[in-house]
Amino acid sequence: MKTEIYYFSGTGNSLYLAKQLQSLLPEINLIPIAKILRFNYIETKGENIGFIFPCHGLTIPIPVRKLLKRINIKASKYFFAIVTRGGSIFRGFPKINKLLKKQGKKLNASFVITMGLNDPKLKAFKVPNKRELKAIEINVQEKLRLIENVINHQKNYHDDNSGVRFSKFSIVNLIMERLIPFAVHYIAPKVKQYFYIDSKCMSCGICEKVCPSQKIIMKNNQPIWQSIVNCYYCYACLNYCPTESIQIYSQFYMKSYTPERGRYPHPYANVKEISNQK
Ligand SMILES: Cc1cc2nc3c(=O)[nH]c(=O)nc-3n(C[C@H](O)[C@H](O)[C@H](O)COP(=O)(O)O)c2cc1C
Repeated sequence: MKTEIYYFSGTGNSLYLAKQLQSLLPEINLIPIAKILRFNYIETKGENIGFIFPCHGLTIPIPVRKLLKRINIKASKYFFAIVTRGGSIFRGFPKINKLLKKQGKKLNASFVITMGLNDPKLKAFKVPNKRELKAIEINVQEKLRLIENVINHQKNYHDDNSGVRFSKFSIVNLIMERLIPFAVHYIAPKVKQYFYIDSKCMSCGICEKVCPSQKIIMKNNQPIWQSIVNCYYCYACLNYCPTESIQIYSQFYMKSYTPERGRYPHPYANVKEISNQK
């Protein structure tokens, strides 16, 4: 029973999960979404198809959305999605189902796994200490046993997807949960929020290497975020910079969010592995 896993990962959480699953299940082929998007025509070949990726703004990240719109899944039978997240609800499963349904398929299983939060802009961001990393790992291993069982037996299963709420009032949560995905996909690309480097930059070029959208290029020993290339908002550049010299400035709030906040790359995912996905 061949399984294909299409994965996208900015800072290694989703990549780690994909690799762990590969060691548990037979005949798994890991396919990096950032790389495969170079092709206009993409066709699945496995019997089981999995998508593993982070939650971005409560929903599906840009490259995964692109893939789902383009991929021909007619040859496959069983579909699952695994979302790694910082802790909020994930609103993307119905959208995935809708895209699969267009080809007469459905999402048979869906899972969410809370791992290290990689967005230093958020108030909730905190670099996890050793004890917290261990707790995340215990949770991941437990979830992997469940995922392995569900996939091996091609069961129908859908995780409880609730997470940290925005407010104690459910109406506020409902509004936020609808507003945020809309803002991320339609408003954010129009509002100027950009990356810049501070004086700590050593010109090492790691940001260029890890950037899955190839938006960053090094010019005169400095990273340039090319305006003609769309950003995937994965924050690989921000989190893998060894001197933490990449920052985010919001023109809307007129402030820098990220100095002195620390960074989070997954402890077992290195620059080479992240770079290899494109
Ligand atoms: C731009 C951005 C938006 C994010 N939005 C959410 C979110 O809405 N809810 C959530 O729980 N985590 C959110 N996160 C955190 C990631 O989903 C989480 O850290 C994920 O496990 C990262 O996976 P990766 O290392 O494979 O990229 C966001 C991260 C980024 C960079």
